Amino acid sequence: MKLPNLNEARKRTNNQVDYIYLDQSYDENTFKGQKYFLRTYGCQMNVHDGEEIAARLESLGFEATDTIETADVVILNTCAIRENAHDKLYGFLGRCKHEKEKNNHDLVIGICGCMAQEEGVVEELMKKHPYVDIVFGTHNIHELQELLLKKNEKQNIEVYSCEGNVYENVSYKRDSNIKAWVNIQYGCDKFCTYCIVPYTRGKQRSRKSSEIIKEVEELVKNGYKEVTLLGQNVNAYGKELDGEMSFAELLKAVSDTGIARVRFVTSHPWDFTDEMIKVIRDCDNIMPYIHLPLQSGSSRILKLMGRRYTKEEYLELYKKIREWVPNSSITTDIIVGFPNESDEDFKETLEVVNECKYDSAFTFIYSPREGTPAAKIDDKVTMDVKEKRLYELNELVNKYSLEANKKYEGKIVPVLIEGVSEKDNTKVYGYTDTMKLVNVVGAQDKIGEIIDVEIVDAKSFSLDGKAI
Ligand code: SAH
Ligand code: SF4
Ligand code: F3S
Repeated sequence: MKLPNLNEARKRTNNQVDYIYLDQSYDENTFKGQKYFLRTYGCQMNVHDGEEIAARLESLGFEATDTIETADVVILNTCAIRENAHDKLYGFLGRCKHEKEKNNHDLVIGICGCMAQEEGVVEELMKKHPYVDIVFGTHNIHELQELLLKKNEKQNIEVYSCEGNVYENVSYKRDSNIKAWVNIQYGCDKFCTYCIVPYTRGKQRSRKSSEIIKEVEELVKNGYKEVTLLGQNVNAYGKELDGEMSFAELLKAVSDTGIARVRFVTSHPWDFTDEMIKVIRDCDNIMPYIHLPLQSGSSRILKLMGRRYTKEEYLELYKKIREWVPNSSITTDIIVGFPNESDEDFKETLEVVNECKYDSAFTFIYSPREGTPAAKIDDKVTMDVKEKRLYELNELVNKYSLEANKKYEGKIVPVLIEGVSEKDNTKVYGYTDTMKLVNVVGAQDKIGEIIDVEIVDAKSFSLDGKAI
């Protein structure tokens, strides 16, 4: 048994990164006929971890199912970024417990992901949820098969709070055969004062560019049309690796594989270079879409957040990207109600939104995370005020989303068609190069292709179009 430890998770003392080439094979008959239910919350990185977990389960013979009632193993891959994650976990556990007590005493319940890296969560699982069988963290997904094979009678908790390694030769059961996630970097060293990620995911470590390119080339060979390069700060790629490429160089190298579309998330404004903007501008297959989290428009709050840029620096970068890549779309993340955010601070956030007119924005109310510096601040702002701010911000953000989308009406744009629309099966859906969701008529037979679509109507969150 190994429990998470916040002090260990905080440490950044070890410059060494081990690159571990996994050589694992399992007997596919071990759990033949048994079924797994997997639910994943959180960011793209966690979604991609979910694809690894699925591959691991299937390597033992499990098949996927989409109800708890038909499952032999249930795995919840959690996210810890905000407090509401806790409600989701315990709500879900309630259902699993019921199922295990009433119908299936042998049901194996597993918890993993970022919440499993939290001390308080694991303590609570031990005290109040003894029916949970296994708990593992973000650093040891590769031990999942062993944990399942061990069949302990007792709760089996293996969570490492380490700085982390890089594992290669990982198999994924990808959700799509058109677009794929590709990790380029793990962890985060930025320690923004509100954020739990550096504690749940370890230090920043980049994969070797040779491995990344090899993976993308393999995806091209298998017919994939799009890759999204993943990291918490993709543009800090390679900085901690002697002699490694910069992110701009990596982008160029991935572009050179000839894949139809290259995307990347998330870029930190602090690490954004001119070279990056030029590569995005000059390579046709690097999509002109940039997610550029602002967090706050007040330099005072940005400083307290530890974001390493001022409002002015952010705006300068923003304008440069818009100028150099005129067809780009830019989206953002904004937090309202950081401890003691004043009306004046909030007004500055609105001002930046008015100036940037984002294509869209994810907005959040600040949520204190145990162990982070911001959580220790005595906050005088009431939840009522925070909720009003969020409402006001959302009104503004949505107005600009609609405005940005309206500009597409009457235009013909390239759309990668991904599948049949869930709401209306006479339509298909896909994304523009600028990451706008489009529902398309007349392209039922074009799934997996990039086609020209005429936009006939624009809403705040999607476009309607017809294939031409
Ligand atoms: N690495 C990315 C962010 C990953 S987390 C970056 O630096 O931009 C995704 C978003 O969740 C963040 O951009 C932030 O807006 C939000 N977030 C993170 N911690 C939060 C907290 N404690 N409360 C509310 N929102 C938070
Ligand atoms: Fe969190 Fe900041 Fe790292 Fe993003 S850069 S993951 S917000 S600590
Ligand atoms: Fe959530 Fe962990 Fe991602 S906290 S946002 S799943 S890195």
